[in-house]
Amino acid sequence: MNGFHRHPETQAAVLGGFPLSEVFRYQESGGPIYAYDLDGIEAVARAVIGALGERAFVAYAMKANSAGSILRRLASVGAGADVVSGAELTLARRAGIGPRKIVMSGVAKSDAEIDLALSEDIRAIQVESIEELSRIEARARAAGKRGNVSVRINPNVSIDSHAHIATGHDAAKFGIVRDAWPAVLELAVRSSSLCLVGVSAHVGSMLRNFDAYLASAATVCELARAWASHAAPLEFVDFGGGYGIDYGTGEVPPPPHEFAARAKDLLRAQGLGSLELIVEPGRSLVGPFGALVARVIQSKVTHARRWVMINAGMNDMIRPALYGAQHRIEPLERSPEGQSWQVVGPVCESSDDFGRHDLGAEPPEAVVVRDVGAYGFTLASEYNGRPLPTELFLSAGRVVSSSQSPGAEAWIERRLRA
Ligand code: LLP
Repeated sequence: MNGFHRHPETQAAVLGGFPLSEVFRYQESGGPIYAYDLDGIEAVARAVIGALGERAFVAYAMKANSAGSILRRLASVGAGADVVSGAELTLARRAGIGPRKIVMSGVAKSDAEIDLALSEDIRAIQVESIEELSRIEARARAAGKRGNVSVRINPNVSIDSHAHIATGHDAAKFGIVRDAWPAVLELAVRSSSLCLVGVSAHVGSMLRNFDAYLASAATVCELARAWASHAAPLEFVDFGGGYGIDYGTGEVPPPPHEFAARAKDLLRAQGLGSLELIVEPGRSLVGPFGALVARVIQSKVTHARRWVMINAGMNDMIRPALYGAQHRIEPLERSPEGQSWQVVGPVCESSDDFGRHDLGAEPPEAVVVRDVGAYGFTLASEYNGRPLPTELFLSAGRVVSSSQSPGAEAWIERRLRA
């Protein structure tokens, strides 16, 4: 069975058919352990790809989780990638993703990153400002190339999400605002070093319904239609990602394949069915299929509070500290119920706090932090001299690959050399 569930008899935590209590056997040094269900990831990707149908592809936002095992699995079912750095681009290529299925986003790409994108001949560099378009033009001219660009517009759509992950409103640093669209078109069409191939947008993350996504997509279509009459025919529209997932907070967003189906319907309704459709989901493909297993170090009880202190901290999983995000934390070997505890990590910061969770009268020996497949490991750091965690990749109920923690000694040596 894909994803997280509880063993029907023992109630022990299971991910993708693998009993999570066994993760410790696969670890070479201490620390918390991420586990990912590759089959669950593949199943969701297949559903999204199926809903998009012909003339479309998924550009997986690999910032959510850039593990090679995940990229290779997604590439094997036909996914492409949305990359935001030269290193992500090279990683995607080496993981087997073809250049025609790669788009590059990011507000401040370096010259070296633009040059790499040009030399790899990726599907499009998504341009986020007129200033950047001029820079791409100059780099392409110097290299004697024609740069494929897509204009990432700022659709001025606000979403009901955490301020840090809302990107499509006027005051955000992302995308090109409406006033600048004519100048961008003029430069893109006039230059013989640029080829305008697409129009894109991304309104932000953790969308809980279709409204903002479809409003933004409609603006993309409006512009694509207007530009198709001026410019060389566009190849694609890209509606971005942002599909929310169920973090157990009571709000259950629609599944990602329904976002994809609505996107396709909208494109047809707008009379643009001949254009290729790109979508950029990140979180929804991987988030529910990752779990972080941590040992309980100790409890601490005062007259004011009851804490459970675990060996995973904000350096391993920063979402609660950074966005006030809620993740379910449950005993590894039994269902969550009974007494609630404040779960905190070992890092010397008050924000190293994962919130209150029902762990029972006595703290368990180990806990599982749920739905951490996206923006978990990729945001991890070594703060407080804490080495990056181990990652295990599961398929058919077995560990099929792992990335071991570099361990404390590697960190000590590197800092000594600094
Ligand atoms: N496309 C672009 C241009 C993006 O900037 C992003 C995410 C995505 C696609 C994918 O969005 P998704 O489908 O994963 O929501 N660290 C935050 C989320 C940051 C999202 C950044 N951009 C978090 O942990 O909630």
